[in-house]
Amino acid sequence: MGGYLWSSSAFDSKSGQVILVALLVMIASFYTGTLFGSNSSLYVSQLPSNSSSSSPGIPTFTNEVVLSYRTKPLSIPEAGMNICPLMFNEYIPCHDISYVKELLPKLDLSRREELQRHCAPLERRLFCLVPPPDDYKIPIRWPTSRDYVWRSNVNHTHLAEVKGGQNWVHEKNQLWWFPGGGTHFKHGASEYIQRLGNMTTNDSGDLRSAGVFQVLDVGCGVASFSAYLLDLNIQTMSFAPKDGHENQIQFALERGIGAMIAALATKQLPYPSSSFEMVHCSRCRVDWHENDGILLKEVNRLLRSNGYFVYSAPPAYRKDKDYPLIWNKLMNLTSGMCWKLFAQKVQTAIWIKQENQSCLLHNAEQKLIHICDSVDDSNPSWNTSLRNCVTLSKAQVESHKLPPKPQRLSEYSESLSSIGINQKKFISNTLFWQDQVRQYWRLMNVDETEVRNVMDMNAFCGGFAVALSTWPVWVMNIVPISMNNTLSAIYNRGLIGAFHDWCEPFSTYPRSYDLLHANHLFSHYKNREEGCLLEDIMLEMDRVIRPQGIIIIRDEELIISRIRAIAPKFLWDVESHSLENEQKKTEPVLICRKKFWAIV
Ligand SMILES: *[C@@H]1O[C@H](CO)[C@@H](O)[C@H](O)[C@H]1NC(C)=O
Ligand SMILES: *[C@@H]1O[C@H](CO)[C@@H](O)[C@H](O)[C@H]1NC(C)=O
Ligand SMILES: *[C@@H]1O[C@H](CO)[C@@H](O)[C@H](O)[C@H]1NC(C)=O
Ligand SMILES: *[C@@H]1O[C@H](CO)[C@@H](O)[C@H](O)[C@H]1NC(C)=O
Ligand SMILES: *[C@@H]1O[C@H](CO)[C@@H](O)[C@H](O)[C@H]1NC(C)=O
Ligand SMILES: *[C@@H]1O[C@H](CO)[C@@H](O)[C@H](O)[C@H]1NC(C)=O
Ligand SMILES: *[C@@H]1O[C@H](CO)[C@@H](O)[C@H](O)[C@H]1NC(C)=O
Ligand SMILES: *[C@@H]1O[C@H](CO)[C@@H](O)[C@H](O)[C@H]1NC(C)=O
Repeated sequence: MGGYLWSSSAFDSKSGQVILVALLVMIASFYTGTLFGSNSSLYVSQLPSNSSSSSPGIPTFTNEVVLSYRTKPLSIPEAGMNICPLMFNEYIPCHDISYVKELLPKLDLSRREELQRHCAPLERRLFCLVPPPDDYKIPIRWPTSRDYVWRSNVNHTHLAEVKGGQNWVHEKNQLWWFPGGGTHFKHGASEYIQRLGNMTTNDSGDLRSAGVFQVLDVGCGVASFSAYLLDLNIQTMSFAPKDGHENQIQFALERGIGAMIAALATKQLPYPSSSFEMVHCSRCRVDWHENDGILLKEVNRLLRSNGYFVYSAPPAYRKDKDYPLIWNKLMNLTSGMCWKLFAQKVQTAIWIKQENQSCLLHNAEQKLIHICDSVDDSNPSWNTSLRNCVTLSKAQVESHKLPPKPQRLSEYSESLSSIGINQKKFISNTLFWQDQVRQYWRLMNVDETEVRNVMDMNAFCGGFAVALSTWPVWVMNIVPISMNNTLSAIYNRGLIGAFHDWCEPFSTYPRSYDLLHANHLFSHYKNREEGCLLEDIMLEMDRVIRPQGIIIIRDEELIISRIRAIAPKFLWDVESHSLENEQKKTEPVLICRKKFWAIV
């Protein structure tokens, strides 16, 4: 194979093959094609170096390529973590098709339960490092990546074949090109977004002037809608299942657009109630009218009061087939929830979620809807069944209107007071992270354009994301379900995020993030059961971070020294630093960098 790799070999006794795990050479460089003209320095590409054998002083790896599963107790080979075979380069543990196939007889397919998360039992989870695909390249940098990504990084032609005609994505030499189309916006997302702005403001303004700052895009395709909403400084959480339209979310993330795998089936989405000013479905292939409109009830839960439901699909404009019947059902269901059809134009219908208590109570009396029993709002929506009911909003929520962005970033939520965070603490936490993020940039010592997709794995009040808001990045704020529930407060600051349990892998593709931040995450999980041991969480971090991506870990000294000791077995470079924590005590901080290696 290519003589351009520094390599060390290991003999895989199982398959009898000689396997090499090698460090790829990164040369900050250029793309000599004419495509980007003088913009060529926007990103980094790899050039094969020409050294034919290993040079002195270059680390060599002894990791072996062996299909290995998580054992109890777990153990890491002396030679370092095993490497999963190449065919697992897109491994997503909780969306593993072969495991879901086994479950099929037990799943409710009419409600598409197969698209939801299904995590295999621990002993069936792979316990090896997920390798990059052949010819993987460090992703093209934002903002060029909005329009172009490396073809070999997302080696799936299916989407281009079925959606090329709708202008989603085209193949262009070594690249995928995203012209910004979608099934319902063949003429580009910008025009579509402008039309939605016109519809919500009687042609006088844009979506922002209609009060829209946070959007949930259901069945987002390659997330062009989200990409173009960024021009209005609107933050979008985009999701789609991992289904026949293969790898939509992988394309979205590779483009540098905030997205995750999720599905509307039988469980609530992992986002808090009243979080979005708009829920958008453009041909999102969700049967809203089925099952007594239970999925619309979920939209109702997620929408803020006076939020919009935007629906661009055939029932909104076609009179043939059974579309009129579906439309009538939708009208019945939405009016039952006291939504108002607000505008209807071209191929789009927009409803508004009105806060009209008397209407809801009236409809409940008429048995058109159920009112939810009051539930504890502090419970995260995680592994929670959908509820076929509508919640009466609390008076205080109604009276308080969130400010526009960027003022929203400093919004303090009353709900924080119940977990001991008063306004003063909140402000000092915000200032603390401003300072820490400055320190991080100094310690990471990377060009800021190298970082686009960021995850804060234990986000608390979102201070880290707020501090990053002036950089061209987006942050997925994760609130672990066993932590105090601060995710609503994070959304109220105009940020996006999700609940998650780090005892399970996250619903994303391998290599989707450029930067992970784990602030006291490991100590939080330190006394937990098998499945979220330190090594399990490190393995998941390694899966989710791209080659040469950065992982910032700060925690107790004992945990830090353990991570420092085993990081080389994960093929991470580690630098130790210390910073002051919020209590002004010195705390160890690790800046880890995943090496760029490949199976050759
Ligand atoms: C690599 O080296 C060979 C011979 O040593 C030479 O012919 C070739 O042009 C070199 N390739 C590059 C990319 O420099
Ligand atoms: C892409 O996938 C095709 C088969 O689907 C395979 O033949 C090809 O080698 C792959 N290319 C890369 C760069 O992995
Ligand atoms: C939106 O309204 C503006 C002002 O009336 C108009 O110029 C523009 O063409 C409209 N855009 C669309 C897509 O309808
Ligand atoms: C748009 O115009 C209609 C009718 O004139 C009016 O009822 C509605 O309130 C207006 N909407 C906005 C957002 O201005
Ligand atoms: C809509 O509701 C009306 C009155 O409640 C009922 O007569 C009609 O059958 C419903 N239509 C559909 C399609 O469910
Ligand atoms: C609220 O609902 C009631 C009953 O459906 C209706 O009479 C009233 O006009 C509505 N109020 C508003 C502000 O829409
Ligand atoms: C999710 O909830 C179901 C019951 O609704 C339960 O059987 C299952 O164990 C839960 N899964 C996890 C991972 O907590
Ligand atoms: C949650 O909040 C309570 C009440 O302020 C506090 O005592 C507890 O330590 C917090 N839990 C976590 C995990 O931070």
